Amino acid sequence: MKDAAPETVYLRDYTAFGWQAQDVHLTFRLAPHATRVVARIHFAPNPDAPAQDFFLHGEELKLIRAAIDGTEVTPELTDKGLTCPVPSGPFLWECEVEIDPASNTALEGLYMSNGMYCTQCEAEGFRKITYYPDRPDVMSVFTVRIEGDEPVKLSNGNPGKSGDGFAEWHDPWPKPAYLFALVAGDLVNHPGSFTTASGKKVELNIWVRPGDEGKCAFGMEALKTSMKWDEEVYGREYDLDIFNIVAVDDFNMGAMENKGLNVFNSSCVLASPETSTDANFERIEAIIAHEYFHNWTGNRITCRDWFQLCLKEGLTVYRDSQFTSDMRSSPVKRISDVIDLRGRQFPEDQGPLSHPVRPESFQEINNFYTATVYEKGAEVIGMLRRLVGPEAYSKALDLYFDRHDGDAATIEDWLKVFEDATGRDLTQFKRWYSQAGTPRVTVSEDWQDGTFTLTFSQMTPPTPGQDDKQPQVLPMAVGLLSPNGDEVVPTQVLEITEAEQSFTFEGLGARPVPSINREFSTPIVLERDSSAEEKAFLLAHDTDPFNRWEANRALARDCALDMILTGAGPNVAWLDGLEAVLRDDTLDPAYRALMLAGPGASELAQVLHERGHTPDPEAIYDMGETLTQFMAERWVDLLPKLLAETRVTDAYRPDAEQSGKRALGAAALSLTTRLDGGAAAQAQYDAADNMTLQLTALMQLVKSGNGEAALQAFYDQWQHDRLVIDKWFGLQIMGLPPGQAVERAQALTQHPDFTMTNPNRFRATLGAVGGYHAAFHRKDGAGYALLADKLIALDDINPQTTARMCSLFQTWKRYDADRQALIRAQMERIMAKDKLSRDTSEMVGRMLS
Ligand code: PHE
Ligand code: ZN
Repeated sequence: MKDAAPETVYLRDYTAFGWQAQDVHLTFRLAPHATRVVARIHFAPNPDAPAQDFFLHGEELKLIRAAIDGTEVTPELTDKGLTCPVPSGPFLWECEVEIDPASNTALEGLYMSNGMYCTQCEAEGFRKITYYPDRPDVMSVFTVRIEGDEPVKLSNGNPGKSGDGFAEWHDPWPKPAYLFALVAGDLVNHPGSFTTASGKKVELNIWVRPGDEGKCAFGMEALKTSMKWDEEVYGREYDLDIFNIVAVDDFNMGAMENKGLNVFNSSCVLASPETSTDANFERIEAIIAHEYFHNWTGNRITCRDWFQLCLKEGLTVYRDSQFTSDMRSSPVKRISDVIDLRGRQFPEDQGPLSHPVRPESFQEINNFYTATVYEKGAEVIGMLRRLVGPEAYSKALDLYFDRHDGDAATIEDWLKVFEDATGRDLTQFKRWYSQAGTPRVTVSEDWQDGTFTLTFSQMTPPTPGQDDKQPQVLPMAVGLLSPNGDEVVPTQVLEITEAEQSFTFEGLGARPVPSINREFSTPIVLERDSSAEEKAFLLAHDTDPFNRWEANRALARDCALDMILTGAGPNVAWLDGLEAVLRDDTLDPAYRALMLAGPGASELAQVLHERGHTPDPEAIYDMGETLTQFMAERWVDLLPKLLAETRVTDAYRPDAEQSGKRALGAAALSLTTRLDGGAAAQAQYDAADNMTLQLTALMQLVKSGNGEAALQAFYDQWQHDRLVIDKWFGLQIMGLPPGQAVERAQALTQHPDFTMTNPNRFRATLGAVGGYHAAFHRKDGAGYALLADKLIALDDINPQTTARMCSLFQTWKRYDADRQALIRAQMERIMAKDKLSRDTSEMVGRMLS
């Protein structure tokens, strides 16, 4: 049962726990509805902590018995945990509880998925397994015994004894409870091994349900590559004899870095060419790397409290993005990350859910696993590296690992290693962690007697609870091009610290064209009045591939806005510039595909709103249709060339080269379908021998209005594969016109394969509606109502996923009064639900306030 008035937790209130947990012994007697958990823990007083009552977290536990030093005790129980008088010195705490994993649909704590036991403890799920000081600064050595008939029984660390009906595990590395994991079931493994730089052989396994063995090979290779990369780039070796990964169908997030036993949403690890797209493969590679990298950044060095979440997440996302850049194309990765940042983090940072990278308060920590903590947290580290340079960054990281190995650390600790390694004062830089909101930067130029001056002004708009913002440190990468397109000043990082600041470049022969914020070196909104000619010049000549893309993006955006606001036709000068890029076959096809993908509807709505207009979702949609049709007709000669050029004849590989070709081919197919009514798509569908080609063709068939037969055929072919059927649910919603998509989604929620208990299926269906701008924002409010209906139904089943999906409403204040009223009514309806979870109530409450 949750409290009527949830408590708010504040960073400033941090106090250490009064005891140290010296060792933890857990015994699990597994049974679906009545699992017994026996805990034996040695506690000793923590000399550094203030005096306090002995309190252990515990939720939804049935206490069977408790004892201190062998004597039965009767603790005082609340819905949050227990208190109990304890001796003044060290003591042994013993406790047995009963839990009900088979009824646990929240997927937090110990639960069952397809008959398999598994756990999810981050952030505060361990308290649903046993009474414990469930906070990351309490670290201990865990020994686990699992009793049950399941053929496979796994936990953290190294395997110990096992025999008929039991298995033991011991993890020598002290860890917080959120990294605890247990898995048991009828599983099969895909084995592998890795020898570390110092010659230690590590056993690797990917554990899956029987039938999924054929989908593990790619993940296994990605794991080995990650292990090697972390040794080479960060000097970090693996530290146990075994590393296990388990695929689970029912999982709230992508994956979890439990020590030595990573648990993955099956969609983030299982892959085969027939069932997974190129994008799936790339994502799987990145997530495997991410979870593996957590072994050092997260596990060996963890967080003192949950306010420090970005300490492990920002850094680990930064590391996995470096990894992907090294494995694939660095510009393509950077552009994709910026698209994602603008698509998810900017709306968050600029709306009612805005919060600092290190939040200062929360009601439910699960609501802070956000794009701000993760992606902006990674951007902050990228800025730090750019400021100090790569060598100093490595030095600081070495110091971080040396100094804090085994610690539960803070952002202060993190910044201190950079200060100590470089002698820099990072006081002002630290505002990136405490100030919410996206800085807006304007630039003006001056040219006089061979001297070029750039003047930057920065301003961050107010965000909830933060009215006044101070200037931040902006490492602004800038290069200058001469009018003939040569680079006269190569990239340099201007360190902006003031509200307004100028930089001069001397001795130039002619007025240069500046290329500003190269590589998106600082995550800001750049407000700069530059002419279409200048953007076209950068599109043609910029040596920074990111800014070349950015120039095109700005032209595409301006074209779209002109069409929407003035009824103008498409900007043909821009399209000619873009065509030159598309025809340049020395350029990576993946890069060209990114050039061809214009800003999405939601991004256009955001820009319209920023510029003082009320976005009209129908007008945005209609503009997109007109522009796409225009491009298709204009490029009638180019499209067959692109289709031919991007055809892959080698056997399928999910690498950057082949997937880049398929991405550009998909963009060309989408335009071609506008002209041929789906003939080319049908041919591709019929010939496809991999999911990428099959799915892109199916999407175009649906868009052409002739997709129903193919949809049925696809369903018949793949109905046995949950992950493919997730795609089927989402694709038809996204491919139908806005006038049909909501009804289709509604109908799909009645489909026998729809289920409220599988987050992947729920997200595939309702997420598709929420992400389809014109459908979700339909004037009659049908999109809002459908989402609210299903969120209200999901809240009792799975509060975490409900709360996360509520954020689809976060941009509501951009829209017209009628739509705002419709959305408000739905949010109020959610708020009025009986026994609304703390998770959902916090999220909707913040959006309404
Ligand atoms: N810590 C996980 C990650 O980023 C995410 C996660 C959070 C998973 C909470 C489950 C629950 O890798
Ligand atoms: Zn992570």
